[in-house]
Amino acid sequence: MSETRKLYVRSFGCQMNVYDAQRMTDTLAKEGYVETDSPDDADLVILNTCHIREKAAEKVYSELGRLKKAQEVAGRQQMVAVAGCVAQAEGAEILKRARGVDLVVGPQSYHKLPELVADAQRRGGNRRAGIVETEFPVEDKFDFLPPPTRAAINKRGPAAFVTVQEGCDKFCTFCVVPYTRGAEVSRPLPKILDEVIRLAEAGVREVTLIGQNVNAYHGLDAAGRSANLTELIHRIAEVPGIARVRYTTSHPRDMDDELIAAHRDLPALMPYLHLPVQSGSNRVLAAMNRKHDRELFFEIVAKVRAARPDIAFSSDFIVGFPGETDADFADTMDLVERVGFASAFSFKYSSRPGTPAAGMEGQVPEQAKSERIHALQALLDAQKTAFDVACRGRVLDILIEKPGRFPGQLIGRSPYLQSIVVEGPREAIGTLAQALVREVSTKNLTGELRGGEFFNERPARESRFIGQSEKLEA
Ligand code: 5AD
Ligand code: SF4
Repeated sequence: MSETRKLYVRSFGCQMNVYDAQRMTDTLAKEGYVETDSPDDADLVILNTCHIREKAAEKVYSELGRLKKAQEVAGRQQMVAVAGCVAQAEGAEILKRARGVDLVVGPQSYHKLPELVADAQRRGGNRRAGIVETEFPVEDKFDFLPPPTRAAINKRGPAAFVTVQEGCDKFCTFCVVPYTRGAEVSRPLPKILDEVIRLAEAGVREVTLIGQNVNAYHGLDAAGRSANLTELIHRIAEVPGIARVRYTTSHPRDMDDELIAAHRDLPALMPYLHLPVQSGSNRVLAAMNRKHDRELFFEIVAKVRAARPDIAFSSDFIVGFPGETDADFADTMDLVERVGFASAFSFKYSSRPGTPAAGMEGQVPEQAKSERIHALQALLDAQKTAFDVACRGRVLDILIEKPGRFPGQLIGRSPYLQSIVVEGPREAIGTLAQALVREVSTKNLTGELRGGEFFNERPARESRFIGQSEKLEA
């Protein structure tokens, strides 16, 4: 191993970027890079970017400007890499637009980072000759990305993300993902299982399987047959130590009956489903090329609720898609009222270069987009508050994830992804418990511990999350 250097990775956008950031950190750890929380003392800064909306993509340029200024003020030499979906979409442009970028690397090439960083280092200060690596290589990057060390898993806590599928073949007309992440690719089931076993052995209790289109998962199993997401979830739920499984993000068209039945049959599958619908108007859904209508969405919601009555839904919405009228928007509000969401993300439509919708007629004026997003968010916020308030007085299962802000406080996660603040010993981190919900605020819930693995019985394994001072072999 070479000398120790410091690495700072900042991720924007989705959970896949969070996972990718971890894998980049793991890869560079082998080269002697140690993670730091501040860009100021880093030798290498990686911006892991998001291209999904214009605002997200523009952030990278302001962040690069800020970094450059800080470097100049401190008289510091720092290597800067741009990774993620903006790197993929506008690699060469980044080098042109932003001074001080040494390396641009797309999401399919992270396994090449050590080599690329060494190359960039050899070029020294000649930044005009920055490297751009945005191919979709034939080899599977996951075969080359080293697994995290125990210490790294410990630092990241008892709830982990695992990418099982990447890319998208759906081609919604507004979306850049098929271009930035490429075609749908699923990782082989045994490799995912190995990763989960390794995480569980280090104390992870909850895994969220992630993919841009995760319920289209179709990876090869050990016998070379194609396995679907339901099979994968069943196998993961059997891994000793794993108590909770989630998956995100799903497409309504791929919510098959088998997967719905898994919500009935598997207690480990959390009763919370993020299922983007985007719009409640059939006209808009067709223009978006969503391949489903509102009726199919209602049907799925009803089936899932029948399978798992305590399930809660979350979703994504876009307002102001080209051609969206007041009547179309009213259909979206109507869908939200009929379904009832525990939480949701909503966005103003953002025209993305290269997507079919960017060239569509009937682009909606900013003013109308703003009015609609306000109305939609008010309704979704009210539903979220109603959902949270209905939890008051209930005892919810929580996974205790980390210490809270104040001494003696712990933060647990409910099945519905609510943060619940409780009082308890740090040693309970990484264990499952029950919390009686007492108070509800916009940020979190406050509760009282009412037993759990740590108190009632010996935990399934000794908690490994008691703090960063703890000694753990790598
Ligand atoms: N404009 C606005 N929102 C978008 N999303 C994806 N593309 C766009 C776009 N061009 C939203 C969708 C998707 C979420 C991840 O981001 O709602 O589900
Ligand atoms: Fe952003 Fe989508 Fe890329 Fe995730 S996959 S980083 S949300 S553009």
